Amino acid sequence: MIAVAIDGPAGAGKSTIAQQAAKELGFIYVDTGAIYRAAALACIESRTSIEDVAAVEALLPELDIRIVFLNNEQHILLNGKDVSEAIRTENVSMAASRVSAIPAVRKFLLKLQRDFAQNSDVIMDGRDIGTVVLPNAQVKIFLTASPEIRAKRRVLQLEEKGEPADFDKILYDIVQRDFNDTNRKTAPLKAAENAIIVDTSEMTLTEAVRTVVDIIKEQGL
Ligand code: DC
Repeated sequence: MIAVAIDGPAGAGKSTIAQQAAKELGFIYVDTGAIYRAAALACIESRTSIEDVAAVEALLPELDIRIVFLNNEQHILLNGKDVSEAIRTENVSMAASRVSAIPAVRKFLLKLQRDFAQNSDVIMDGRDIGTVVLPNAQVKIFLTASPEIRAKRRVLQLEEKGEPADFDKILYDIVQRDFNDTNRKTAPLKAAENAIIVDTSEMTLTEAVRTVVDIIKEQGL
């Protein structure tokens, strides 16, 4: 099986780029952030405080989080319910960043991620795919972009959906999430030693997809 690990900070374009590259190459695309978001949503819905690590740990055995594919599109089931839309709010984003710092949560979600790579050729994106989840991935890419560019892209995305977008608040949240993800003790966000760094700040989406596909093809995969 072939595994491509794509890591990087929030808003670097990982999911859009990885999804398009996977389509072009005929790989399955797995967005691992979605399962951390599902765990965060479960905390919010059950009114479990994320600061209370013991309470979050106690909630884990009650969680059935699954990744399923419908028409080639990833959906997330939380205890049987499709939460693919519900996990995309800013509130859940921030909660996911905090819940993902809890080691027991990371351990709980590890097998789910590894199982995918065992059964299919995958492009998997996240924060620790090249370092922890799939350390033997044949290709490791670290996708990044400046916080300002990432905030600008997020504003455009929200405006396209007709939702309110406050640049300063979004930039603040991005910087905050980068800090949380980079500084946590367990599996922090960092480039694997043998990762190829791709900075998409000055690239269009098409250029970024081309760059990633070329890197994968250069490995003879
Ligand atoms: O990629 P995303 O923004 O949907 O991820 C949501 C949060 O989950 C993010 O703040 C960090 C965390 N995450 C993680 O710790 N490890 C991963 N492999 C993927 C996401």
